[in-house]
Amino acid sequence: MQLLDGNLCAKEIREEISIKVRTLKKQGNRVPHLVAVLVGNDGASKNYVAFKARDCDEVGFQSTVTTLPETITETDLLKKIDELNNDIAVDGFIVQLPLPKHIDETKIILAINPIKDVDGFCPENVGNLCLGLPTYISATPNGIMELLKRYDIKTEGKHCVVLGRSNIVGTPISILMSRNTDPGNATVTLAHSRTKNLIQLCASADILIVAIGKTEFVTNEMVKEGAVVIDVGQTRVPDQTKKNGFRNVGDVDFENVKQKCSYITYVTGGVGPMTRASLLQNTLKAHERRSK
Ligand code: GUN
Repeated sequence: MQLLDGNLCAKEIREEISIKVRTLKKQGNRVPHLVAVLVGNDGASKNYVAFKARDCDEVGFQSTVTTLPETITETDLLKKIDELNNDIAVDGFIVQLPLPKHIDETKIILAINPIKDVDGFCPENVGNLCLGLPTYISATPNGIMELLKRYDIKTEGKHCVVLGRSNIVGTPISILMSRNTDPGNATVTLAHSRTKNLIQLCASADILIVAIGKTEFVTNEMVKEGAVVIDVGQTRVPDQTKKNGFRNVGDVDFENVKQKCSYITYVTGGVGPMTRASLLQNTLKAHERRSK
């Protein structure tokens, strides 16, 4: 079993981006600027956004975190998005999800100018992804593809089972894995809560990508000998033995399945850092598009 080290690959990507930023600066150019909009007080979201800002600092990007109250109205959030769409000093921005219940997430995503949608969530960008056209590929699926590429994992002709059909992970990764690319060219099954014979289906996968949001859902009997297992799940579970009072738990029962896998990610240091590295790649792309 080999652990897929997302921290290591993400560091490589940040180094590659840093070199490009240094060149931009030397040539007297403006550096890429990412804005992250954080609504409310969700602890995990705050953490993710803080990490995204820190990554920007590390590679030499400008970053701004705009924190808005939990009680903000949908109308006021839409106004903020309009401002960012029109701010020439901003290359790209994200609205950290989930949003408070009284705000319609779809409405917010639809309001983002696709050119600045470095999350790749807008219909135009998702459509481009489906057609194989240049686009911002959303960060988590792109991070998974980068991880497979950097470990030179062969996916052509393999059976890839994706567990979970969310707009931001399951659906786009199923499309990417089936496309005529390397990695890609896999035969993909997108499984979800209504899928029958899930245990047998997962156990037939050469590559199992799990983004179902249920802690330790994937157990030994669901993993084929020699499979590649990618765990996207990350749920905070109360744990009084930890300084911060919680620990992160994945969708895969890591200890239970690891010996069966050829490659596997761990809940921390796996997909998470790759997601953040992909956001940096998209922000650089947004800056390049504007400079053309
Ligand atoms: N919440 C969980 N993952 C993401 C992400 O990739 N982007 C945004 N905006 N919110 C998220």
